Amino acid sequence: MAPNGCDQKGPVMTQPPFPNTRLRRLRATPALRAMVRESTLSPSDFIWPVFVMDGTDASEPVASMPGVMRHTVDRIGAAAREAYELGIPAICVFPYTGMEQRTEDCALAWSPDNVANRAIRAIKDAVPDMAVMTDIALDPYNINGHDGFVENGQIVNDRTVEALVKMALAQVECGADILGPSDMMDGRVGAIRTALESAKHQNVTILSYTAKYASAFYGPFRDAVGASAALTGDKNTYQMDPANSDEAMRLVARDLSEGADMIMVKPGMPYLDIVRRVKTEFGVPTFAYQVSGEYAMIQAAAQNGWLDHDAVMMESLMGFKRAGCDGVLTYFAPAAAKLLNG
Ligand code: PBG
Repeated sequence: MAPNGCDQKGPVMTQPPFPNTRLRRLRATPALRAMVRESTLSPSDFIWPVFVMDGTDASEPVASMPGVMRHTVDRIGAAAREAYELGIPAICVFPYTGMEQRTEDCALAWSPDNVANRAIRAIKDAVPDMAVMTDIALDPYNINGHDGFVENGQIVNDRTVEALVKMALAQVECGADILGPSDMMDGRVGAIRTALESAKHQNVTILSYTAKYASAFYGPFRDAVGASAALTGDKNTYQMDPANSDEAMRLVARDLSEGADMIMVKPGMPYLDIVRRVKTEFGVPTFAYQVSGEYAMIQAAAQNGWLDHDAVMMESLMGFKRAGCDGVLTYFAPAAAKLLNG
């Protein structure tokens, strides 16, 4: 991912007064603006989240995310190749699951033949050099739509972590390069890292959903993956309280110590202060997820003619880079890459 200069600190307080300093001088022409631009945006900054479904030779639109499609596994390789050719280095796979694939024991989560794992294999076959990222959480396979097992109305931590480890190993066997634990259980990064080491998968990376907030911005995604109908209650006992910032720093320290290689903040735009803190305080590879609700807001306003689609898309993505992100998970990845490539 491209470096950016957002950590530079200028001597803001010591500048000579007007007219010796006229800050507009450096804004006067496109050439001058290009020379002093602090952050850059490139297709290599993007990770593209995609939705895969059962069936053959089909694609269907996600109603709450205009422009986003679910593809069958036989079509996902071609979509991935197109993205890779645009310069997008990584793709993140999410399964669409119906009620009949959800059980109390979530056994499909670690089946090598579930739709997500078949999609990983299809992408690695079609574009071996593209990095494939996964989502590790039980929600697509859980009868009640939660990321962990539910016992007596409680999301249980440690039994869930054991299942997440099995899920992670199945994904790795199918060719996953980047594991994305998104469940927010305690101890899952360490358990997954230990299992990877014992299975001699020492080069598999973990991009932990470290600061994942309990957010209403995930609504359209839950429609996209078929989780809205299944979910009972909320995720507030495991996802973070949107009011907290210090807690996110504790989570980052914890996940790094357990073996995470990269850190994610999610959602994105309303949490750029968290991105900035992570980057400044830890200096580690930091990503943000511009989630479904952020995407849907921009698409809806653009469809109504209230916002300029391309300009707002690019401005929102530059905001992530300026805040300190090394990269962004974004449904805009192909459209933005096309614009950047001219
Ligand atoms: C599931 C998961 C969610 C998202 C990514 N992984 C939803 C949730 O936690 O309920 C949201 C992504 C988006 O909104 O774009 N563990």
